Amino acid sequence: MPKRVLSGVKPSAEMMHLGNWFGAVRQFVELQATEDNYIFIADYHAMTTVHDAKQLRANSLEIATQYMACGLDPAHTVLWRQSDVPEVCELTWLLSCVTGMGLLERAHGYKSARQEGRDVSMGLFCYPVLMAADILAYEADIVPVGEDQVQHVEMTRDMAERFNNTYGDTLKLPAYRLAKGALRVPGVDGQKMSKSYGNTIGLFEPEGAMKKKIMGIVTDSTPMGTPLDPDKCTVFALHTLFPGDDLEELRAAYLSGTIGYGGAKKALLTKVLDALAPIRARYDELKRDPSYVADVLREGAVKARLVARRTMDACRLAAGFADPVG
Ligand code: ADP
Ligand code: TRP
Repeated sequence: MPKRVLSGVKPSAEMMHLGNWFGAVRQFVELQATEDNYIFIADYHAMTTVHDAKQLRANSLEIATQYMACGLDPAHTVLWRQSDVPEVCELTWLLSCVTGMGLLERAHGYKSARQEGRDVSMGLFCYPVLMAADILAYEADIVPVGEDQVQHVEMTRDMAERFNNTYGDTLKLPAYRLAKGALRVPGVDGQKMSKSYGNTIGLFEPEGAMKKKIMGIVTDSTPMGTPLDPDKCTVFALHTLFPGDDLEELRAAYLSGTIGYGGAKKALLTKVLDALAPIRARYDELKRDPSYVADVLREGAVKARLVARRTMDACRLAAGFADPVG
């Protein structure tokens, strides 16, 4: 039986990078062949930080375009915008009434906002409740997440248990799944590739910009002709993301000093461009047809809403909101 795999992605203006692709997006694309894949653009969650209406709307379309370019196929994955299914807000309220403040005060996001002295909106404080509603509304079995989101899925289970203990068994308890292995794609400076470190290689960058970044990967200054250690080299680490027969040859060339960093970078650029060619082409195509992406999101919302409505009906009935005399 296929499992329902659900995940939300916050829309961001930044371009998806190699770390996102290998660490997360590729898994969703692979999962859609065997599982019941549900992915939504978490624009209500983004509203805790983005208050520019135009930007929020544009970012949602952009992130959907990038996911579809990466291979998310509307024939196999339900893809929609969170805000097109208002039932999640209704469920958020029902869950809020069985959730203690103490639980939410322990949330990492809220705690760090407080520590940094930032203003905390009710939206930010309730972020985990909205996330629980997302997960529970769609009867998710599995929620693939990065480490930073594990706490939210654990809280979701707590909230579902509280609801079920109070009103009878209504909500399905989800499990989280950590992104495959401990894959850590390095950025051009050798640290973990991340938007926050400004060291990313974007999937859809123009070729010239991509070349500049790859040729600029930080290495040591070992002169050409000297043996190099592949296991201490960011360029080699990036090569290993693309398994192929040439990897062992490249390793041997490093160890014997027959390749320099410049040569290894050029080979990497070719490899990255070859591997990404289909998704880059698809991206350009989708960018020319935004109304197609918008249609996919609308159709996804219709399918997602049917599931959320069913959950909501069960919750309303359980919590005393059935017909007043029926
Ligand atoms: P960023 O660090 O650029 O802000 P996000 O936190 O938005 O990236 O991550 C989105 C997804 O991509 C997460 O599932 C995360 O685990 C994965 N991811 C991000 N960067 C990397 C990386 N360098 N290596 C492996 N996976 C990554
Ligand atoms: N909070 C998640 C993040 O910041 C995004 C998200 C919202 C999510 N709702 C979700 C992820 C439900 C998984 C399931 O990345």
